Amino acid sequence: MQSLLPKQQFSQRRMALMQWMGSDSIAIIPAALQYIRNRDADFRYRQDSDFYYLSGFAEPDAVICIIPNRPQGEFILFCREKDREREIWDGYRAGVEGAIELFGADDSYPISKLDEIIPVLMEGKKRLYVNLGAQPEFDARVMNWVNSLRAKTRQGAKAPAEFVMLNHLLHELRLYKSADELNIMRRAGKISANAHIRAMQKAKHGLYEYELEAEIIHEFMRNGCVAPAYNTIVGSGANACILHYVDNRRQMQNGDLVLIDAGAELDHYAADITRTFPVNGRFSAEQKAIYEVVLNAQLAAIAAVHPDNHWDKPHTAAVEVLTQGLLDLGLLQGTLTDNIEQGLYREFYMHRTGHWLGMDVHDVGDYKVADEWRQLEVGMVLTVEPGLYISPDCEKVAAKWRGIGVRIEDDVLVTKTGHEVMTDAAPKQVIDIEQLMRG
Ligand code: GLY
Ligand code: MN
Ligand code: MN
Repeated sequence: MQSLLPKQQFSQRRMALMQWMGSDSIAIIPAALQYIRNRDADFRYRQDSDFYYLSGFAEPDAVICIIPNRPQGEFILFCREKDREREIWDGYRAGVEGAIELFGADDSYPISKLDEIIPVLMEGKKRLYVNLGAQPEFDARVMNWVNSLRAKTRQGAKAPAEFVMLNHLLHELRLYKSADELNIMRRAGKISANAHIRAMQKAKHGLYEYELEAEIIHEFMRNGCVAPAYNTIVGSGANACILHYVDNRRQMQNGDLVLIDAGAELDHYAADITRTFPVNGRFSAEQKAIYEVVLNAQLAAIAAVHPDNHWDKPHTAAVEVLTQGLLDLGLLQGTLTDNIEQGLYREFYMHRTGHWLGMDVHDVGDYKVADEWRQLEVGMVLTVEPGLYISPDCEKVAAKWRGIGVRIEDDVLVTKTGHEVMTDAAPKQVIDIEQLMRG
């Protein structure tokens, strides 16, 4: 399948990478491995994000080589050969011809020829760019290729002398999203927002959490998102306080809140949305009080997404509103400053307010530069996702608050003038949620 991105976007990315690599160098990137689920059944295949970012090629059993200034061509794609028999069983393969015609490779070879050809490509290069540590078996193969060259030094062969982690360069590039990438992310955001709306419309007590998960996945798939970007969380009642709850098997009760954290993946780009709403369509007084604190914290954090601010600003904005809200409701005591400085709010808010978002749900890119929080810049996308989680056995607070868990999460693009919320089609004001659920 071809990417939704224009083909030249992939060549621009390779060019940007090659400018950073400089000549006398070679980069080698393997495709993601295929993982067995049980016995002979595999998990659905998902290409490695770095690999896809540079090639748009979604097949397994492939390796990319990038060699700046190589006269015969700089982009070499090793892949599975066309094979009529295998294609009847497992489906279409681009083959080496397709790698060139459809994916813009300058050269393409069968993956079976890797051990033979890579040392030839590597010979004479000073620097080798690889992501060591991601696939140990592949690392060992890389070392074998290097050693095979070292063994021939007396015949005049030159093995690479410098090993450089490719991650750093590539992940800097991935952090800044292009207009075309943003269009895909907006679409993923819209599809995901519609899935949350569908779940709100279908919710009622007596249903099981997985029945809402089914509504979410239904909306993803019928819009071409064949997989969620991460495992869907549907946590009702006190399950909303379990941050990575994915069991989704409880029967929802009248009076519960349900927290749904679900995002679609479209063409290898993630959306990541959380909404929390009452299963019966009406917030109780306590639920509403906690919800409004989280919502105000989220709005304050979103307002702090601006190129004048650094990465941590939205988090500190959220923490301040959450802590003040907890004080106002009597869930914390003392002063705002003491509670923040001593981290007492962490009893109810134990995670950070967001992360980079892109091809990976927890996307790549440094959060600090030279030990300082990184400045937000146009084209970066982050999530803003404060929450409050009051454990069902928290004896420090009145019983009426226990077991309430709320998170509200949106995907936010940094723009010249501030920000764009890419997922605002999913309602989050109390009045809008209640109205939607009444309808
Ligand atoms: N869904 C994962 C996260 O919100 O970080
Ligand atoms: Mn999430
Ligand atoms: Mn998130």
